[in-house]
Amino acid sequence: MIIEIPGELERFGGNIIYELQRVLLLDSGLRKKAPDLDSSAYPYYNISYEESYAIESKMSIVVPVKDVPLKLLEGVLFAIPHHCHVIVVSNSSKVPADRFVMEKKLVDNIRKFTRRPISIVYQKDKKLSGALKDAGYSSVLDSKGIIKSGKGEGMILAMALAKAAGKKYIGFIDADNYFPGSVHEYVKEYAAGFSISESRFTMVRIAWYSKPEISKDNLFFTKQGRSSVVTNKFLNKIISYYTGFETEIVRTGNAGEHALSTELAMVLGYSSGYSIESYHYINLLENFGGLDTIPYKKVMNDFIEIFQINSRNPHFHQKKGSRHIRNMIKDSLKVMYHSSVCPEPIREEIIQDLTAREALKEGEELEKGIYYPPLASLDFDKFKDSLPGPLTETLLP
Ligand code: GDD
Repeated sequence: MIIEIPGELERFGGNIIYELQRVLLLDSGLRKKAPDLDSSAYPYYNISYEESYAIESKMSIVVPVKDVPLKLLEGVLFAIPHHCHVIVVSNSSKVPADRFVMEKKLVDNIRKFTRRPISIVYQKDKKLSGALKDAGYSSVLDSKGIIKSGKGEGMILAMALAKAAGKKYIGFIDADNYFPGSVHEYVKEYAAGFSISESRFTMVRIAWYSKPEISKDNLFFTKQGRSSVVTNKFLNKIISYYTGFETEIVRTGNAGEHALSTELAMVLGYSSGYSIESYHYINLLENFGGLDTIPYKKVMNDFIEIFQINSRNPHFHQKKGSRHIRNMIKDSLKVMYHSSVCPEPIREEIIQDLTAREALKEGEELEKGIYYPPLASLDFDKFKDSLPGPLTETLLP
């Protein structure tokens, strides 16, 4: 892959946020045959097939799924490179039809016919919930001791499993994607980001190039998602407030498609449901921005690199209604509003914005969301010991 070297960046304490990078060639071939870009006339990185392969072999791709048509899930799973480890984390309905059983059959068949490392777990599994409890990570459990519902909660479980499987990188891909080609591309871009990173603490976030919408019987390719526009605006405002320079550096506030080095995944705090992606940025500013107490000094010293890569395929997924989008915006703004890094004037703007879009009533308080501590607090030896036997066979082959 040939990818632009980012010219602009924002430093915020130990965080380095790079500007959006364009992909110039999706596949630049084998190392020895790759185009020679050494000349300073080309400010590009060239990531050879071998380099991508080496990183992808150490990566778990997590696919969170809840009641997505099997055809879509199948397309997504077929598109993930064979050498990646795959964890499907499902919170699908069990009634009237048991969708999880259908997903499990699909995954078992894929493993059988492609011989690839792939596991599926049920988010509400009693043994898995118990394993988290035994390992001292109970905050993600409900009053019955079962893992709570929510995309973020499923992702937390999957990150713990990827770490238990010894993976160095963890990437996320939504299951409701109609274009397998885009899924394949996201994985390549995750690998490219990790390959150019100089830090052990790295995050790679995808900003898709376009999203097709149907407008008056025609296709129209939008540039930014409905919630991303708002989330990005407020994240940039928070950064600008401290640096004193207006910025548009954040383009991936809501990136469902993102990847983390496992070392970074272990020291980040998380929030529930769909706010998890915007809270990444907020938690990075809180923990490593140098404004507050620094929980992991070593991480801040080593720097955290955040890459934003502009994919080439259009992103085409199941379209949700405006209520879903409004709730997603509210959840994202909530984690900003309640953060110690959010300045008062921006808090006021958040309330105005949410009131204007009728996500809050006039004078209503914006309630606090749910947060989870870093996974570093989990005892991984105990967690592994408590994992159910059949899962261990597919997860740790
Ligand atoms: N395991 C699990 N548990 N998965 C879930 C749950 C849950 O409780 N809820 C949703 N999912 C799965 C969905 O099946 C899908 O594969 C993925 O999580 C994303 O959920 P969607 O409901 O399809 O989200 P979206 O398309 O509106 O939003 C996506 O893109 C946003 C950025 O545009 C999500 O990835 C957001 O998190 C992201 O901010």
